[in-house]
Amino acid sequence: MPEFIPVLSEQQITDQINKVGQKISRDYKTKDLVLIGVLKGSFIFLSDLTRQISVDHEIDFIGASSYEGATSTGQIVFTKQPDLELEGRDILLVEDIVDTGNTLLKIIEFVKLLNPKSIKICTLIDKHERREVKINVDYSCFSIEKGFIVGYGLDYNEKYRNLPAIYDLKL
Ligand code: IMP
Ligand code: MG
Repeated sequence: MPEFIPVLSEQQITDQINKVGQKISRDYKTKDLVLIGVLKGSFIFLSDLTRQISVDHEIDFIGASSYEGATSTGQIVFTKQPDLELEGRDILLVEDIVDTGNTLLKIIEFVKLLNPKSIKICTLIDKHERREVKINVDYSCFSIEKGFIVGYGLDYNEKYRNLPAIYDLKL
């Protein structure tokens, strides 16, 4: 049986998202903000974050998938492209977790081709141990060193996204 070791509680997640949402609201007061959620892992984070951002903004999604199970395949497949016009706009990419950084690097390269005014990164979790590429994370709710975590949108083989808190999964 898999074991779920608590890492972040619902309250901790809520409190931190409130803080990050306030900071984004201050930073984007005079900007043309578009949040782009990276599917699928960011869907719960994005839905809580958008409600903590008090400046007008729009929402879109980009579909990128890099993982099978708990090990990276090293391949990134785009499954959905943004619908909104992004040229000249201020893009904030919203990720569930930055691990090696390879997914985000590919997404940034892709979004750059759409000529936005700015691109910044907001992640729920910044996981350090396996980082392979330099990524400048502008907004991070939590930093962890290592482990494989599930819950609050994060999956293992598409399961456990529904857990309201975040757990380290021991298989
Ligand atoms: P990267 O390309 O290695 O940075 O991988 C990023 C993607 O891998 C994330 O958007 C997640 O979907 C997935 N991922 C990486 N680490 C974890 C984890 O600990 N739990 C669940 N998904 C993870
Ligand atoms: Mg995933």
